[in-house]
Amino acid sequence: MEFNEMEKEEKKLSRRDLIINGGKVAAGAAILSLGAVNAAKTAEAYEFTSEYKYVKLDPKEVGQTTYENYFTKWCTSSVIAGLVESLKKHAGGAWKDFPIDAYRWGHGGLAGWGTLCGTMPGAGVVIGLVTKNTDTAEAMVNDLAFYYSYNELPNFTPSGSKTAMKHMTMSGTPVCHISVGKWMKAENVAFLSNERAERCARLSANIAMEAVHMLNAWADGKYTPKHKPLYNVLANGITSQNNCTDCHGQMTPSPNTTYGTLEK
Ligand code: HEC
Repeated sequence: MEFNEMEKEEKKLSRRDLIINGGKVAAGAAILSLGAVNAAKTAEAYEFTSEYKYVKLDPKEVGQTTYENYFTKWCTSSVIAGLVESLKKHAGGAWKDFPIDAYRWGHGGLAGWGTLCGTMPGAGVVIGLVTKNTDTAEAMVNDLAFYYSYNELPNFTPSGSKTAMKHMTMSGTPVCHISVGKWMKAENVAFLSNERAERCARLSANIAMEAVHMLNAWADGKYTPKHKPLYNVLANGITSQNNCTDCHGQMTPSPNTTYGTLEK
């Protein structure tokens, strides 16, 4: 297809469409990735198959397993371990061979780069496998990011803990570095400390448990997204969190609102 034709195709998809179709997460996501014309034409939520079955789980069991696994597997794989160990026990089947450690690289905001907190992609892997629908999975992961960002965490109390910690903090963002940094400042400890490991272990448990709450509701046919999909992109004109001043200070740039190929 010629470039001009591609532009015409994309013009048909306006920002208004995005808002009207706000519930259609995958559609929005694909439309926003400019240039993906062919994808945009067929961008609907779609179902896919997976052998992984879900049965309702006990959040406390999942939380405790996640917590215990953290000290060897770290955030991403400990959340996966929490969910998968319970699913192995209660649902069986394909879960029995699930490679929990294949995702350990997600720790520390992606191999220590401090980007996205690894707990959420950990939960997202399991959420995607069991819900088997692109929109449902995206809506749940979006709700999970809101939960993570706007609650004082961690509030999970493990059994058998050897390390006390005093503070819970609200990150305002799913970014590892900012989240752990705010907590470290409040607790006045270093990153390589037992207290910080304890905090991330408990936080991992919180995220795994919140995933269980959503998945249990979904299993009962009662899950409805709490938050608007792609809220941040639409509200801020750029993929974003809402903690602009954390990085930009008072000089937060206003996004350029004229789209090259999309009508506003
Ligand atoms: C995690 C840190 C961080 C956060 C949080 C953040 N930004 Fe940014 N943003 C950056 C960096 C780094 C750049 C690259 C340009 C720069 O250094 O200013 C950037 C670039 C941008 C740009 C494109 C450059 C421009 O001048 O047009 C816009 C627009 C922008 N940010 C808006 C926002 C808004 C609005 C928010 C809050 C909703 C936000 N940012 C939150 C770090 C951040």
